[in-house]
Amino acid sequence: MNLFNKAFCRIFQYCFKVAIPILPYYNPTILDSVEDISKVLDEKNITKVFLVTDKSIRKFGITKKLETHLADNGIAVTVFDDVVSNPTVDNVEAARKLYLAKGCQALIGFGGGSAIDCAKAVGARIARPKKSLDKMAGILQVFRRIPLLFAIPTTAGTGTETTVATVITNSKTKHKYMISDFPLIPKYAVLDPEVTKTLPPSITASVGMDVLVHAIEAYIGNSTTKKTVHEALEAVYLVYNNLKKAYDDGNDTEARRNMLRASYLAGCAFTVSYVGYCHAVAHSLGGMYNTHHGLANAVLIPYVLEAYGSKIHFKLKQLGVAAGICNYRMSDEEAARVFIQSIKDMNKSMGISTKIHGLNKADFKQLAQYASKEANPVYPVPVLMDEGELEQFYHNVYIEDRVTVGNMTGISRPTPVKQEEKELVGV
Ligand SMILES: [Fe+2]
Repeated sequence: MNLFNKAFCRIFQYCFKVAIPILPYYNPTILDSVEDISKVLDEKNITKVFLVTDKSIRKFGITKKLETHLADNGIAVTVFDDVVSNPTVDNVEAARKLYLAKGCQALIGFGGGSAIDCAKAVGARIARPKKSLDKMAGILQVFRRIPLLFAIPTTAGTGTETTVATVITNSKTKHKYMISDFPLIPKYAVLDPEVTKTLPPSITASVGMDVLVHAIEAYIGNSTTKKTVHEALEAVYLVYNNLKKAYDDGNDTEARRNMLRASYLAGCAFTVSYVGYCHAVAHSLGGMYNTHHGLANAVLIPYVLEAYGSKIHFKLKQLGVAAGICNYRMSDEEAARVFIQSIKDMNKSMGISTKIHGLNKADFKQLAQYASKEANPVYPVPVLMDEGELEQFYHNVYIEDRVTVGNMTGISRPTPVKQEEKELVGV
């Protein structure tokens, strides 16, 4: 990146960092079980709630405990279970109509990122009945209090239960955009391990690695605060001590609970301190090839950390100490190497490859442009990179999909994710 652009990015990021203390960030209050929701509703005299989820979550019976509990406590529940993967404007509008028709007073987003994002967007439209979602794209466009919002994440990975943002797609224009404003941060996050137990191991692994990447990118960036530093370090500790356990035994309640907490903490950290180039590149792959977000991050992160070089060695050492795999007697360089290697090992132990299938080299320039546009100047990354430098990451993870068997040549594709797994995480 040239000097002028570097200076522009750093000044932009510095202004945002200086503003952090005066911005109304808050961490959602944690509830340990879906059964704690009724107490909060009682206190606020709320008797009608709107549950936003998707068909597969309901099909697997994951919402049943909550629905039964609310009914037993005299709270009327209207269920909207039509949320689609990448929720659309039409999706949100249909939910909003139902919310108003039933006279609901609070929102519960129950599921992966899509359900919670949809609930946030419904809240935005309730707060802003005369402003379309398209008009709310960008930052600080909601600017009004939304109905009380509970987020119940079922994937322990996206962190959307803590963030200011929701991502919505206009299916007519094919435009996918982010609406980002402080009222969209849920008031309560329900971290109930019971609702994550049905996650299959492959998804547990990829969303768990997404948590790790949130924590790492928030920590190594230049916009950390005392609070986000602690959150990121604790998240890294929790991931290193629980992800493999949750992967090996999905019914390990303690490991599931700790991964939910890690996801929450990492979400709080990156909401304030941002992510970095790993996410920008992963998003571009998701947009172009529908590559699973967590998987893309898991594969990319070792390459991205290596590319940052010595600038982040000390910070990686601190992360390595938090993870319990480094100590302060090690040189910064050695500790950074050990930490990066441990990520590669963790990926390998959970069946995550070092490459991503299905990429087309002809797209790399365009993808690098998308990634650069997303990250620069907003993300306070430790080392700035332009499109040309970012393009290298696509080559790093590229693998030739053409295979020759005998005298026949064809396209090799990775084993597709099972339909059931796709449904559970909305990919
Ligand atoms: Fe992520």
